[in-house]
Amino acid sequence: MAIWTLFPLLSASLLLRLIWSLPPTNANSEGDALYALRRAVKDPNNVLQSWDPTLVDPCTWFHVTCDSDSRVTRLDLGNANLTGSLVPELGKLQRLQYLELYMNNLAGPIPNELGGLKSLLSLDLYHNNLTGSIPPSLSKLSNLKFLRLNSNRLTGRIPRQLTKLGNLKIFDVSDNDLCGTIPTMGSFSKLSEESFKNNPRLEGPELMGFVRYDIGGSCA
Ligand SMILES: *[C@@H]1O[C@H](CO)[C@@H](O)[C@H](O)[C@H]1NC(C)=O
Ligand SMILES: *[C@@H]1O[C@H](CO)[C@@H](O)[C@H](O)[C@H]1NC(C)=O
Repeated sequence: MAIWTLFPLLSASLLLRLIWSLPPTNANSEGDALYALRRAVKDPNNVLQSWDPTLVDPCTWFHVTCDSDSRVTRLDLGNANLTGSLVPELGKLQRLQYLELYMNNLAGPIPNELGGLKSLLSLDLYHNNLTGSIPPSLSKLSNLKFLRLNSNRLTGRIPRQLTKLGNLKIFDVSDNDLCGTIPTMGSFSKLSEESFKNNPRLEGPELMGFVRYDIGGSCA
């Protein structure tokens, strides 16, 4: 108060400078990230009709859940008849805990940027048409409990870094086209062969101390 009255001009200019330097609010950038997904998919059942980008945040959009700070915690779009692809912008949802996009017909790769979802507990992309390899960046999702990528068209090796996901309870990559050996270290030591079945080119499980992970010919 005293400073305000003593130096009104200085204070006003400081205030203006502060306003101009503020980053956009998280709520808006999270809405933008979700809207990027809406633009990248076809939605014949109009499940995304309520996704209005002019609203101040996405918290009233159907299939989106927020916490008390208006930050997105859940995206529930399982079995929604979506086609199209995932978008890297989804990786900006820093408080997202549940990314549920199972049983759609999404094609293309799993964006590396999903490794930025540091609050994620559940990544469910099963029963889609995803291609490319499993991004090693998913090993950064240290809270992850459920990782279900089964029934897609994923190729390449299972990133060995995923074995350091200490909270992993369910891991399913069955029904894909993965190759290489099955890691058996860390959290993978508790998994059964069911998690890996129906990948005709997948060998293993690795015999610890006997078979080196990266041994063998090409695998892409
Ligand atoms: C999914 O969308 C297609 C159009 O792309 C439509 O023909 C079909 O009936 C929809 N399926 C369901 C279960 O709504
Ligand atoms: C999966 O995508 C391919 C093109 O990449 C397409 O030919 C195929 O029909 C899709 N599968 C399904 C089940 O839609």
